[in-house]
Amino acid sequence: MDRTTSEINPSGGMENRIGKYVDRFGQEEGCLIMILHAIQSDEGYIPREWVLELSLALGIPVARIYEVLTFYHFFKLTPQGKHNVVVCMGTACYLKGAADILKGVEENLGIKSGETTADRLFHIDVARCIGACGIAPAVKIDDEVIGKATAEKIIERLNQIKALEGGNGN
Ligand code: FES
Repeated sequence: MDRTTSEINPSGGMENRIGKYVDRFGQEEGCLIMILHAIQSDEGYIPREWVLELSLALGIPVARIYEVLTFYHFFKLTPQGKHNVVVCMGTACYLKGAADILKGVEENLGIKSGETTADRLFHIDVARCIGACGIAPAVKIDDEVIGKATAEKIIERLNQIKALEGGNGN
C-alpha cells in the first residue's frame, strides 16, 4: 500500500498532521513506532485523538496501537512538564535508595509520580531502567542523566531549575 497524504486525507484538517508522518516514514505497520516517536518528539506526548487518526491512516486497530504504546515505557500518554524527572526504580537503583530519592522529589515538587505540577513546569515518572545501572541510583532530568544520585543532589538540581525558571514548580 502506498497512498499519498492527499489520498489519505482528501479533506485536509486533522488528517494532514498524520499524513505528514506517513509521507515521511511510510504507511506499513512496521513504520508505527517511528511515527509514534516523531509525534512524541513534536508534541511531547501521544494525544488520544492522534491515536484514532493514526489507526485510520495506517489501518491498524486502536487497541494494537495502545499495546505498542504501553509496552514501550518511553511513550507518554499525558502532557508532560517542561522539565521531566524520571526516577529509575529498577533493581540496581532500588537497592541503592531510589525509593528515598523518589519520595524526596515528590515532596519537593508537591506531586506524585505520573503527575505534572499545576504550572506544567515539572513532571515525575518512574522507570524500570534508564540504562545507567553502573552509576546507580540514577535519575534523568530532561536529557541529563544524574548518577550516584541522592535525594539531596536531585533536589538541589531541581531548585537550580526552579531558580532559572523564576518559579517554585508547584
Ligand atoms: S536499574 Fe536503574 S539505571 Fe538500570
